Amino acid sequence: MKEFTLGINVDHVATLRQARGTTYPDPVTAALQAELGGADQITIHLREDRRHIQDRDLRIMRATVQTRLNLEMAATKEMTKIAFECKPDMVTLVPEKREELTTEGGLDVALNRELYKEQIRFLQDGDIKVSLFIDPDLDQIRAAHKAGADAVELHTGSFCDARSPAVYEKELQRLLDAAKTCAKIGLATYGGHGLNLQNVAPVASILEITEFNIGHSIVGHAVFVGMKDAVAEMKRAIAAARN
Ligand code: PXP
Repeated sequence: MKEFTLGINVDHVATLRQARGTTYPDPVTAALQAELGGADQITIHLREDRRHIQDRDLRIMRATVQTRLNLEMAATKEMTKIAFECKPDMVTLVPEKREELTTEGGLDVALNRELYKEQIRFLQDGDIKVSLFIDPDLDQIRAAHKAGADAVELHTGSFCDARSPAVYEKELQRLLDAAKTCAKIGLATYGGHGLNLQNVAPVASILEITEFNIGHSIVGHAVFVGMKDAVAEMKRAIAAARN
């Protein structure tokens, strides 16, 4: 089996908490349970509007997560300063719009290469690895590489949303081509967004993709089976596809 990292995004445990402004359910507890279930990394998105994860969650998780902490954030001055001080193991830069329900597309690194280059260098100087969340697009991959990113996370959302066999095949091929290009130029390749137990196998079988970040479907499944079992089930599904 080809090794992989499973990052569990616990944002939506915080979504439930924020819906009532209570102290429960705590995403910090969810992170611990995810680690007990086999998570290799905890992923959280500190959004500008703080709609789910709060600064306090980041602070406590930095002190308690025993695997690795991956902070998703927009490339803003405020967030870069927070990351530099808090020192997650990795930052994943994502585009962010206030009105979106969830991250909608990848970064346009090709258009804003100098901006990302500057942010990446600043974070790397703070001993933080930087991954860029991009669509599986060859121009974006080349731009990410030139900007000095340590890794790219390929947006798997279009593949997950495919409703016809033709679109499904096209989107899977895009992911495959993108992952092969990354491998060729020596850029670590991750994947995430929209993955669940039903659609993960074809993406997991792309061996160039070595890390998967999965949140919504796992938190949803955890409501019925518990976080530990939901994570363990996903880990088995990905491992089986890489045999
Ligand atoms: N990767 C990135 C960069 C994301 O922004 C998200 C959503 O926060 C995920 C992975 C996880 O997506 P999902 O919640 O659909 O599994």
